[in-house]
Amino acid sequence: PDPISWQIALPYLIGALLFGYLLGSIPFGLILTRMAGLGDVRKIGSGNIGATNVLRTGNRKLAALTLLLDALKGTAAVLLAGMYGPDQAVAAGLGAFLGHLFPIWLGFKGGKGVATYLGILVGLAWQGALVFAIVWLSTAAITRFSSLAALLAAICVPATLYFLGFVQIAQLFLLLSLLVFIKHRANIVRLMTGKETQIGAKG
Ligand code: G3P
Repeated sequence: PDPISWQIALPYLIGALLFGYLLGSIPFGLILTRMAGLGDVRKIGSGNIGATNVLRTGNRKLAALTLLLDALKGTAAVLLAGMYGPDQAVAAGLGAFLGHLFPIWLGFKGGKGVATYLGILVGLAWQGALVFAIVWLSTAAITRFSSLAALLAAICVPATLYFLGFVQIAQLFLLLSLLVFIKHRANIVRLMTGKETQIGAKG
């Protein structure tokens, strides 16, 4: 692209990134558990604000709603920004993911991004979302580890996207998968030392 078209495109890309960030930074797990009078979800289990940890409160409906809303904010960011073009959709997806992981409202200490990763994927490449769902569900069914399921899905998704020829989206998800791994450092240690909590066990 020539420099002049970049000068025109850049404000839209930055706008999409910021828009995605604001949507992504809404900590639904924290908001819902507080509204339900369950206290601060960051004080139980893994301390995470995601659906897996909300489930450790024992409230399945709230966990499902957290999963749904954390995913939908990613999908919404991508689809709305996507009305301006595919590059804006990718920028908004990146923004939404960074917003969930590093929300300004929580001193940049956010979640691990798995539900939002899936939501962004639904908006950008449904084939990737299908692979994610298959890998996550089968791993979780066999091992009962949410973290392991997410880590394996995060390996398979970028590889599948490259294989299917979605190069730009694959590059985005390579970066998101790297961040998923970084955010799961403590889970990886727990998995390797046999200390990881299984899905549904209270924290
Ligand atoms: O989606 C997050 C999951 O992979 C791990 O959650 O609470 O067990 O650290 P948690």
